[in-house]
Amino acid sequence: MSLYRNSAWFLKGLTEFTKGAFLSASKSFVEKDLETSVAGRSFMITGANSGIGKATAMAIAKKGGTIHMVCRNKDKAEEARAEIVKESGNKEIYVHILDLTETKKVWEFAESFKKKYKTLNVLINNAGCMMTKREVNGEGLEKSFASNSLAVYILIKSLIPLLEKSPDPRVITVSSGGMLVQKLRTGNLQSQRGRYDGTMVLTYLPTSLTLLICQITFPMLHIQWVRKVFRPP
Ligand SMILES: NC(=O)c1ccc[n+]([C@@H]2O[C@H](COP(=O)([O-])OP(=O)(O)OC[C@H]3O[C@@H](n4cnc5c(N)ncnc54)[C@H](OP(=O)(O)O)[C@@H]3O)[C@@H](O)[C@H]2O)c1
Repeated sequence: MSLYRNSAWFLKGLTEFTKGAFLSASKSFVEKDLETSVAGRSFMITGANSGIGKATAMAIAKKGGTIHMVCRNKDKAEEARAEIVKESGNKEIYVHILDLTETKKVWEFAESFKKKYKTLNVLINNAGCMMTKREVNGEGLEKSFASNSLAVYILIKSLIPLLEKSPDPRVITVSSGGMLVQKLRTGNLQSQRGRYDGTMVLTYLPTSLTLLICQITFPMLHIQWVRKVFRPP
């Protein structure tokens, strides 16, 4: 990370990513906006068995929405589903098992979902993972790139026709403020050269993802405040 980017990220972090910045921005939040029912609307959430994804699924379930939880671990997913059903009283919660590192399977999943379900109002790309060492998937793609960037692109691209059938569709993609610390390494997207540093790989991926998504024009959510909202300090 260059000194310039390091300093810029640190200063931006101080002004935008801190508890004080959240409290200041939260003054313009309109609580009433959340007082809405989403009954009859369906939401696909990746990585919905823990953290931000699970909290989002729980909040939407309580407001009556249908949830499609896309998770890689069946036991964890079923456990989270049971908790969401019990706490929200909403039984319209469905689990889909998918490892987002497996590019071909992501495509097949999206295509079969599109055929099986008549509607999808909102796609929330939340899942994210950090690899500790370089690994490739069945297609020879580096797994961090495959799951954090390519899978998101594939889900959006493939599900657009289904999303477009609803009157007010949304795609929300959770990213990271960490993207500011590194330039996009266009010549090394697969991290095939140099020492593999999972943290640094994760910092350039949101940039590549932003560029991929910009091709299909959707905004992204850069995470820093969510931790303050959903997690105790
Ligand atoms: N929390 C923060 O401060 C923060 C800061 C910056 C960015 N973010 C971003 O916010 C998002 C949510 O983070 P979180 O803090 O809620 O993390 P988390 O609790 O670790 O949740 C991540 C979720 O993604 C799932 N996942 C990971 N790799 C997957 C794969 N290959 N296929 C399918 N699912 C996969 C995980 O499944 P398993 O349970 O099976 O592992 C888990 O459900 C991530 O995209 C993260 O990069 C968070």
